[in-house]
Amino acid sequence: PQKILLDCDPGHDDAIAMLLAHGNPEIDLVAVTTVMGNQTLEKVTRNALSVARVAGITGIPFAAGSARPLVREIETAPTIHGESGLDGPELPEPLLELDSRNAVELIIETIMTNEPGTITLVPTGALTNIALAARMEPRIVERVKEVVLMGGGTNFGNWSATAEFNIVIDPEAAHIVFNEAWPLTQIPIDVTHEALATPDVVERFTAIGTAPARFVVELLDFFGSTYREVQGFDAPPVHDPCAVAYVIDPSIFTVRRAPITVELVGTLTAGMTVADFRAPAPADCTTQVAIGIDTPRFWDLVVDAVERIGDP
Ligand code: BDR
Ligand code: CA
Repeated sequence: PQKILLDCDPGHDDAIAMLLAHGNPEIDLVAVTTVMGNQTLEKVTRNALSVARVAGITGIPFAAGSARPLVREIETAPTIHGESGLDGPELPEPLLELDSRNAVELIIETIMTNEPGTITLVPTGALTNIALAARMEPRIVERVKEVVLMGGGTNFGNWSATAEFNIVIDPEAAHIVFNEAWPLTQIPIDVTHEALATPDVVERFTAIGTAPARFVVELLDFFGSTYREVQGFDAPPVHDPCAVAYVIDPSIFTVRRAPITVELVGTLTAGMTVADFRAPAPADCTTQVAIGIDTPRFWDLVVDAVERIGDP
């Protein structure tokens, strides 16, 4: 199995990414780290530990990281994820204790103590922790297997006309992460907006009948209602598990190699990810962006993972 460290801000879709990573047999989830984003650091960290209880995740470290972006003021998303960051289901009291290390230390130690080329970083929130780790221990850049992140938009935004939430809340951090020389795959909203939890998908989770499956249905119910009211979607786009799905089976996605960076100064475009699709991509280009997804195969993976978790 592929060893991954999930750096997240749960968050409805982050929670589903955790379930996919835990339930899928191709993935060995070695650590979970948290970063402010959908809600404050305190709230998303508690949510991560609650999800761990629901999913029966034990025996791996959970560490909290950055409580604010590198440069900008903190901005959260209660209109989409509610006051808790994970509104909808009842959130059980966590059983796991938080690791005493900061997320940045845990990221570095995980990469430096495992064999080179074995740890994949999967960020599904702002890139603050990942950027700090790269600055604090630059050797992680050549030692990591790959960074597979959910964030950015190739052709449009969701938090501004041009920018996506995970990138725009900490564009300086994102700029660092996109410009390091590690292999990086970007899963942008252009693709995650195809990963819609339509009624037939929700029905498949309902049919499983376990507590984790009911938790997913309740998450999708709340997430669906805010996406309907705030963003005008018929069904919610379930962004973050797409990054985990790419690690499990990259053939579910179509990708294109291109230099990608982040706009920091534009008055209309700050926080926009900019992919340069002029051919040919330069020989030293280490970044690629997903441009297509096989949605039925994506949902098959998530449903299968939740089935395998059973009733822990
Ligand atoms: C991203 O923003 C967050 O609200 C979601 O969890 C996802 O990571 C989508 O723009
Ligand atoms: Ca997220």
